[in-house]
Amino acid sequence: MYKIAVLPGDGIGVEIVPEAIKALQAIGEKFGHEFQFTEALIGGAAYDAVGHPLPESTLAACRESDAVLLGAIGGPKWEELPVHLRPEVGALLPLRKELGLYANLRPCMLFPSLIQASTLKEEVIAGVDLMVIRELTGGLYFGEKSREATADGGQKATDILSYSTYEIERIVRFAYETARKRRHKLCSVDKANVIETSRLWRETVTELAKEYPDVETSHMYVDNCSMQLIRNPKQFDVIVTENMFGDILTDEASMLTGSIGMLPSASIGGQVGVYEPSHGSAPDIAGQSKANPLATILSAAMMLRYSFNMEKEATVIEQAVHQVMEDGYRTPDLMEAGKNLVNTIQMGDLVKQSILKG
Ligand code: IPM
Ligand code: MG
Repeated sequence: MYKIAVLPGDGIGVEIVPEAIKALQAIGEKFGHEFQFTEALIGGAAYDAVGHPLPESTLAACRESDAVLLGAIGGPKWEELPVHLRPEVGALLPLRKELGLYANLRPCMLFPSLIQASTLKEEVIAGVDLMVIRELTGGLYFGEKSREATADGGQKATDILSYSTYEIERIVRFAYETARKRRHKLCSVDKANVIETSRLWRETVTELAKEYPDVETSHMYVDNCSMQLIRNPKQFDVIVTENMFGDILTDEASMLTGSIGMLPSASIGGQVGVYEPSHGSAPDIAGQSKANPLATILSAAMMLRYSFNMEKEATVIEQAVHQVMEDGYRTPDLMEAGKNLVNTIQMGDLVKQSILKG
């Protein structure tokens, strides 16, 4: 039996997570696996219920499970709270840190039937298949932060950016191992022309490259990478980068898949992995059954692959998503003329049926 902690969170999180559960249940039915789901509060919903966005009981539920399925957190209602109680800083970042999730995987694959949905040209994105590996528990996000008053009556704010050799090595090794299972190409992204942590990053990658002669290593500055991602994304196989650069580049890379509503993510490295869509809680469309559940469903596929070692089952979910797209069903974010508009629940049902048939 596989124990899954379910943290729907805020906004559309509560609408998309049940659709991913449906997909997992269909897999269970088809392959004879038993998944047990335990729901817990996180984010604004947890703050409203118990006064903290990451209750101890939620963390305990995650630690006691084999994997975590997370929806999305945050929203305007909680933006004015003291920073340590806001969903992002008070829940998401400590969850990543506490569970030791130093590796964040965001695979960008174009769904051929979505080629028209992207704002980019067909010849640029056809055939894109890349994986961004983002360092997730270090860098600016977790460095010391401070404010001080300045003599002119203003303030000075400081965020410390630091990385140790150890932190760089473990994520870069992870990226090399991933590249070995793919097309054997690794591009390390930094800003070594300006930033000291990036110079250590590049030196560390250069050293490690000697251990992976079968993988072609390249280095790229982050500004150039942001340009190359939309100029010629097919040049990339695996990209490895630090926390903040990875945050920015993956939003950009999501457009290569057609919509950010299609980009799943896996955060791993500790005892228990967390699987969540790369997008946010979308308060503007929450509660209207307009949200695209596919990034969350694809995140559940990543859970099967990375936490439960169920490659075949993961592929069945991915194929089912392809099939539903091929059949012309679209949530509003991907709607175009000639397609069939469906809501969140209908999309989840279609994927479920396709899993059971496939
Ligand atoms: C992401 C998100 C988070 C991040 C926010 C919500 C803190 O943008 O997972 O990419 O910056 O890591
Ligand atoms: Mg982000």
